Amino acid sequence: MPIPQKTPKVALITGASSGIGLLATLTLARNGYTVIATMRDLARATHLREKAEAEGLADRIDLHALDVTDSAQVTEAANYVKATHGRLDVLVNNAGYALAGFSEETTLAELRHQFETNFFGAVQTTTAMLPLMRAQTRQTGGAKILMISSISGLTAFPLLGSYNASKFALEGWSEALSMELRSLGIHVSLVEPGAFDTDIWSRNATITSATQSPGSPNYKRSQAFLAQIGNGKMSKADPQQIADLILRIAQSPNPKLRYLIGKDARSAKLLRTLLPMRLFQSILLKASGIDS
Ligand SMILES: NC(=O)c1ccc[n+]([C@@H]2O[C@H](COP(=O)([O-])OP(=O)(O)OC[C@H]3O[C@@H](n4cnc5c(N)ncnc54)[C@H](OP(=O)(O)O)[C@@H]3O)[C@@H](O)[C@H]2O)c1
Repeated sequence: MPIPQKTPKVALITGASSGIGLLATLTLARNGYTVIATMRDLARATHLREKAEAEGLADRIDLHALDVTDSAQVTEAANYVKATHGRLDVLVNNAGYALAGFSEETTLAELRHQFETNFFGAVQTTTAMLPLMRAQTRQTGGAKILMISSISGLTAFPLLGSYNASKFALEGWSEALSMELRSLGIHVSLVEPGAFDTDIWSRNATITSATQSPGSPNYKRSQAFLAQIGNGKMSKADPQQIADLILRIAQSPNPKLRYLIGKDARSAKLLRTLLPMRLFQSILLKASGIDS
């Protein structure tokens, strides 16, 4: 079916109930996109709904239930996008959380769940949406897939091994995908933020059960780590910067593969390149508080 030229571009965002996903939804809608704002629990859409109504954007935002770990829901969402919107110009794989805990004590179930969300969730959402994106690119002039990765996908931090592994996996998979899709006019970009002020640090902060147990041989070091990240000294940037970057990538005719964002992310990447690894790791260890 031909796509009328004047139809607004359509974006789908996962994890749109809070943080980066919520802000990106509003930012894309303000700039003329129709946004399919997906979230695992539609009861959590109140905040987004209120903001959209206040700005007169409600008719550009289509709320849809999607837990990225649920394969049946992912397939249903892809069918819904095709049947209801007939096109998908921008896919933002944003849903995710950070699991903290000593690698030694993280259960396989905890590690698998981290991967189910941050890695397999993005993989299955992408592969489900790709047939529609492929079918339309000749008519629409291209499509974009954005992966919200992290500086944690480029360098590891103590107690974030599971999160690091899931984002490193996302980096590798996306890099290969970007080459495979290039000739089809579908661009893949990785967004790699440092620390930004969202619910990932509060409501959604997830700590392995062993790390919280006084019986753990790492208990004292865990407490030091939790005190260090909870001491309010860590500066976190405004996540609207990431929403603005997502818009820029969506609008770019030829986006890059990687976008590092945040002063802390830039300095971590630079220091990792310049310093001997032992010295770089000593700096990270000191910041984590676990051996002080
Ligand atoms: N903020 C940072 O400092 C930072 C830095 C680097 C990378 N990132 C990445 O940015 C992305 C967004 O995080 P955020 O900072 O905006 O944190 P956030 O406010 O906690 O948002 C995370 C979103 O993901 C959703 N989510 C979690 N599991 C899901 C699932 N199985 N299916 C669907 N949605 C799910 C959450 O839904 P609920 O509302 O239902 O919990 C929430 O909407 C994540 O991929 C994160 O790794 C964040």
